[in-house]
Amino acid sequence: MSRLTGKIALITGTASGQGRAAALLFAAEGATVVGTDLDADGAAGTVEMVRAAGGRMDSTHPLDLSDEAAVKAWIDEAAARHGGIDILYNNAAATRFSPLTETSYKDWSFTLRNELDTVFLATKHAWSHLIARGGGSVLLVGSTAGITGSITNHRVAHTTGKGGIVAMTRQLAAEGAAHGIRVNCVSPGMIQTPASANTLLADDHPMRTIARHIPLGRIGAPEEVVRCALFLVSDDASYVTGANLVIDGGWSAVLPGAS
Ligand SMILES: NC(=O)c1ccc[n+]([C@@H]2O[C@H](COP(=O)([O-])OP(=O)(O)OC[C@H]3O[C@@H](n4cnc5c(N)ncnc54)[C@H](O)[C@@H]3O)[C@@H](O)[C@H]2O)c1
Repeated sequence: MSRLTGKIALITGTASGQGRAAALLFAAEGATVVGTDLDADGAAGTVEMVRAAGGRMDSTHPLDLSDEAAVKAWIDEAAARHGGIDILYNNAAATRFSPLTETSYKDWSFTLRNELDTVFLATKHAWSHLIARGGGSVLLVGSTAGITGSITNHRVAHTTGKGGIVAMTRQLAAEGAAHGIRVNCVSPGMIQTPASANTLLADDHPMRTIARHIPLGRIGAPEEVVRCALFLVSDDASYVTGANLVIDGGWSAVLPGAS
């Protein structure tokens, strides 16, 4: 359990769900984790959990990742405190689901700001620190929504945002290569987290029964995403950049109703 020994890993959205799971796993693998989230109580709780498990973590919260000055300060201060950074895991996001004609410009802007602007800002301000380190690893979080449309879940803004994440991964991989910066993406399918529990997996939502369409027959767990994230940011993936690893139990690989 030491694939990240000596690494400084910045993770966004550490208050809950996959971000909390990533903080626990990366710290267990030897990283010093630097977290952040809008949700101060949840973020502080994750720090406590990591430290109780014997890991190293600090966190700046509350922090809105669409506030450029705050993002830059979070990253610069982390680099100064720890002597540099090796990994940026752009996990945080917030979204609003709705069909095209019911999507207000405000909802569209909210989703793209919280799915794309946040990732752009954190990566932009981490970049020079990664170059100074002689390279590093950046992870983006897409979604099956970024590579498929959906009849059941109307999500034009989310689909566009996560499609943008997959595209951004490839462009950043191209720009990072000369600096030794690898950039990859994990694209989860349906994962059991607070975000999905309150929306797509709520009792009255048509997506509730989606598990029967997933070849592996169940919803995924946050730990199943972050173990793949660990692989991509670690030296085990030293020849992997520009990849989009889909973690969806085979959901996007099959046509609905196909046997
Ligand atoms: N849960 C799923 O089924 C699923 C599926 C595909 C992709 N994803 C993606 O996985 C990632 C993690 O999602 P999750 O399910 O763990 O969600 P979550 O809501 O449990 O966690 C996301 C965290 O990000 C934080 N956050 C959101 N916007 C922020 C901002 N502007 N500044 C600071 N913090 C902010 C939230 O406060 C929250 O703690 C997201 O990128 C999400 O889009 C999730």
